[in-house]
Amino acid sequence: MNILITGGCGFLGTNLVHFLAENRPEYHLTVFDLLTYAGTKSNIKRLISEKRVTFVHGDICEPGQVSSALDSGIDMVINLAAETHVDRSIMYPADFIRTNIYGVQVLAEQCRSRSISLLHMSTDEVYGSSDDDESFTEETLLQPSSPYSASKAAADLLLMAAHKTHGLDVMIIRPVNNMGPYQYPEKIIPLFIDRLSMGLPVPVYGDGMQIRTWLHTEDFCYAMELAIDNLVAGGIFNLSSKNEVRNIELVKKLVAMLEQSEDLIRFVDDRPGHDRKYSTDGSKFMNQYGWMPRFDFDKALKKTVDWYRANPDWLKKHHTKEFEEYCRKQYGSL
Ligand SMILES: NC(=O)c1ccc[n+]([C@@H]2O[C@H](COP(=O)([O-])OP(=O)(O)OC[C@H]3O[C@@H](n4cnc5c(N)ncnc54)[C@H](O)[C@@H]3O)[C@@H](O)[C@H]2O)c1
Repeated sequence: MNILITGGCGFLGTNLVHFLAENRPEYHLTVFDLLTYAGTKSNIKRLISEKRVTFVHGDICEPGQVSSALDSGIDMVINLAAETHVDRSIMYPADFIRTNIYGVQVLAEQCRSRSISLLHMSTDEVYGSSDDDESFTEETLLQPSSPYSASKAAADLLLMAAHKTHGLDVMIIRPVNNMGPYQYPEKIIPLFIDRLSMGLPVPVYGDGMQIRTWLHTEDFCYAMELAIDNLVAGGIFNLSSKNEVRNIELVKKLVAMLEQSEDLIRFVDDRPGHDRKYSTDGSKFMNQYGWMPRFDFDKALKKTVDWYRANPDWLKKHHTKEFEEYCRKQYGSL
């Protein structure tokens, strides 16, 4: 099978490309990536040089670029290309509307006209915040709270419309938060590992009591492998786990693992529109594919921290001018 992975130089994309190259050598993998600030081509350099992966520099919002990439005999597109950082979506929503909505529409049209299957990555954030005991199923109303989650919800609706109207062979996955190697250090886990390793303070939004559900990228990749082999056309699936943890608990665990003092924890003004809790019911995917996450929270966090500690140069490489400027703006006053 010939698979085109958009956003294959980002966090989940890099993990998935490595996983599939290792475990499914019979697939031919092409990575299609614009290489925004969040995309790092060197993540997959070895696989490109060994000719196990073909790289195409391109933008999913450009129909001509998508079209020529698909003309190389692609059977399936896995869409991981997106603008993904909620804080940035509050500052620069237009970038999110462009890639996460318009870009997805371009992919849908290009896939449909060639009868190519599309496996699209959505997010648990499309449901908005859950009340204490509530766990969202795939039938729950979408009530996104940020420009990021609103753009992801819009894409889901467009894709389901393309499935109903044009028979687009599309499946949508809504994963919870992932942790693992190669995540750009603006996101909480690599950001805090990076800062704590340098003895710098770390910002916790509001009271830190927000709850998130976590998955290790290895579990995510294993789920994707199952989905690729048996795509359910028109199917929407939550991808979830039992690893529900308050942000402050996560931060305290990171502080302890990095042998730092809790004095480095700084409570800052809450993010506008910050959801208190994400909780999704993942039983539909588990029943369909017999998939279960293998990593509990502590095991996943330890494995993640170990990777960043073993790869300090990867984090250092991301200390670009743009990143330093972003950190100064966001955390300069801590
Ligand atoms: N990371 C998570 O925990 C998580 C959780 C739920 C859902 N998701 C979803 O999974 C997908 C991947 O997330 P991620 O964390 O790997 O993101 P990321 O920000 O790490 O990577 C995004 C990648 O997309 C590329 N890209 C951006 N705009 C592009 C464009 N116009 N054309 C081509 N490439 C472009 C970037 O260069 C980068 O390589 C996203 O759709 C995200 O919403 C992620």
